[in-house]
Amino acid sequence: MASVLEVVDLHIRYGTGAGEARAVDGVSFSIEAGEYLGLVGESGCGKSTIAKAVLGILPPNGRVAAGEIRFQGRDIVRLPPAEFRQMRWRDIALVPQSAMNGFDPVYTVEQQIEEAIVAHVSWPAAERRKRIEELFAMVGLERQRLSDYPHQFSGGMRQRAMIAMAMVLDPTLVVADEPTTGLDVIVQDQILQRIKAIQEQLQKTMLLITHDMAVVAENCDKIAVMYAGRVVEYGGKEVFRTPHHPYTLGLCNAFPDLDDRERELISIPGAPPSLVDPPRGCRFAPRCPFATPHCSDVDPPLVEVAPGHSAACHYLDRAAEFRRMSEDPEIWRRAGEAA
Ligand SMILES: Nc1ncnc2c1ncn2[C@@H]1O[C@H](COP(=O)(O)OP(=O)(O)O)[C@@H](O)[C@H]1O
Ligand code: SF4
Ligand SMILES: [Mg+2]
Repeated sequence: MASVLEVVDLHIRYGTGAGEARAVDGVSFSIEAGEYLGLVGESGCGKSTIAKAVLGILPPNGRVAAGEIRFQGRDIVRLPPAEFRQMRWRDIALVPQSAMNGFDPVYTVEQQIEEAIVAHVSWPAAERRKRIEELFAMVGLERQRLSDYPHQFSGGMRQRAMIAMAMVLDPTLVVADEPTTGLDVIVQDQILQRIKAIQEQLQKTMLLITHDMAVVAENCDKIAVMYAGRVVEYGGKEVFRTPHHPYTLGLCNAFPDLDDRERELISIPGAPPSLVDPPRGCRFAPRCPFATPHCSDVDPPLVEVAPGHSAACHYLDRAAEFRRMSEDPEIWRRAGEAA
């Protein structure tokens, strides 16, 4: 059976005043039915661009230059806009970053969820109401709040309503792009747990986009780590249990570990390279504590380190040593000074 989503050697570019930005540069991954994949990486590495391409909502200056996005086996990259509109909500739904962006302030939350239903299916009013109430219960919102306007909701409640709206037509794939960014930490946790519970209960196929490694480790069963428009490490839970790419090691160090709250957090010094004119060789080399001259010269391919687990680094055979060394904040500081 075909994967629900299969992204194959995808290249996406944006036209900018400074030239073309290669926002996504040869990315491949797949999500099978019922899988929860986390796409993780620092801001600007191309995560939202992938989400937009999957939903057919790239801005006018963005284009898919090459590659395929297969949804249930069918390439949707060149789908006519009218067909894409039909697929959105019904087949592929989005939980956007800020709930406020998703709701119109002049209609009640119920009216807006109803509108999404009416645009796609011809359910009678009673059935629509029943479905909306069911979903409100699922995301933990009281039914009497249905007639509220978005501004009467807290940020966390709006995001719950947004999740209800994304699920309303029982879509095959749900994409959540930084669904909790900007919310209070406790609310973030509640919402992520709620999404996870729904994913498990309904066996939903989901793509979660976040910059936070801990969130992915906590929630997802498959993971793609992105750096500067590329996937640098990909696989199941081994990716954060036995990370192989120095960038993944850096991301793991930068977020609190739920099992080890005493561990010192080390952020990766420096910034990702320009995507208009990316450096040749390994794109992480300027920030990598283990870089050699060879790294800045030759681009490392993504290779399998174990079945279903791959990474793009020239020194994968030294991964165990890198894991040990990366616990020392000093080596990151030194790499940062050199960069
Ligand atoms: N509309 C746009 N026009 C030009 N460049 C863009 C546009 N949107 C995003 N980019 C660039 O594409 C790259 C990837 O952005 P994005 O996909 O939003 O990253 P992420 O979601 O990982 O933070 C960044 O370098 C960003 O500056
Ligand atoms: S290829 Fe070199 S620079 Fe790139 S991650 Fe591996 S060691 Fe670091
Ligand atoms: Mg983004």
